[in-house]
Amino acid sequence: MRSISVAIDGPAGAGKSTVARLVAQQLHLTYVDTGAMYRAVTLQALKRGIDVTDEGAVARLANQMDIALTPADGELDVFVDGQRITEEIRTPEVTTHVSAVAGNPEVRKILAQKQREMGEEGGVVMDGRDIGTHVLPAAELKVYLTASIEERAQRRYNELVQKGYQLDWEQLKEEIRYRDEQDRNRQHSPLKPADDAVHLDTTGLTIPEVVQAILDLSRTKVGGGE
Ligand code: CDP
Ligand code: CDP
Repeated sequence: MRSISVAIDGPAGAGKSTVARLVAQQLHLTYVDTGAMYRAVTLQALKRGIDVTDEGAVARLANQMDIALTPADGELDVFVDGQRITEEIRTPEVTTHVSAVAGNPEVRKILAQKQREMGEEGGVVMDGRDIGTHVLPAAELKVYLTASIEERAQRRYNELVQKGYQLDWEQLKEEIRYRDEQDRNRQHSPLKPADDAVHLDTTGLTIPEVVQAILDLSRTKVGGGE
């Protein structure tokens, strides 16, 4: 029997990766973090001194890259051409430049194709910005996760401080707002809820509460998980 696919989209810091990974564990599905793929292309461009706004050069790079997402200890390891880059793709430098790469139509085409291949058998929980609208339009369950900008900035702030970064809260909030705006307003597969997505405002909700809400939806919407 074909397993279900779950698409989780939404703005930065809404909790997509955290809850998608946990939902995948609970439903015995494969978690696919598509943001990690845009970050991987961005990191490689920066490492090679390629201008992230040079659309042709970045697309050629993306085309050559072998990106692998491998489950490890409940987390997801990210490899490019066999090299582990799991932590490197989360640095503020990559975050600053990722919007330019995500706005590159050829890169989107290349990565969306890889993502569809990962999801073609079903059995995935995939998170990103365009999964329900573009990558997996037939996903059995689509969730659009949001939270207030204050809460999303606070979550990201806590996470980065814990990793040892020193940050200005207001500046971080502005960066998140800017990145969301770029994602919402780009021409190709912008961030927006699919018409059939269930909207879940996670402001004030804990991670287990959000995970439970999605598991409940997977039962009621799909009849799965019983
Ligand atoms: O974790 P965070 O919300 O900071 O971002 P992410 O999910 O790692 O994605 C990084 C960036 O990749 C986003 O800001 C988007 O510009 C882009 N992205 C995209 O355009 N489409 C996707 N399906 C996933 C990510
Ligand atoms: O993937 P996305 O950018 O949507 O968010 P994330 O990276 O999964 O979550 C950002 C941070 O918020 C992480 O440190 C999560 O642990 C935290 N979080 C939270 O505190 N409460 C939630 N309901 C969801 C996430």
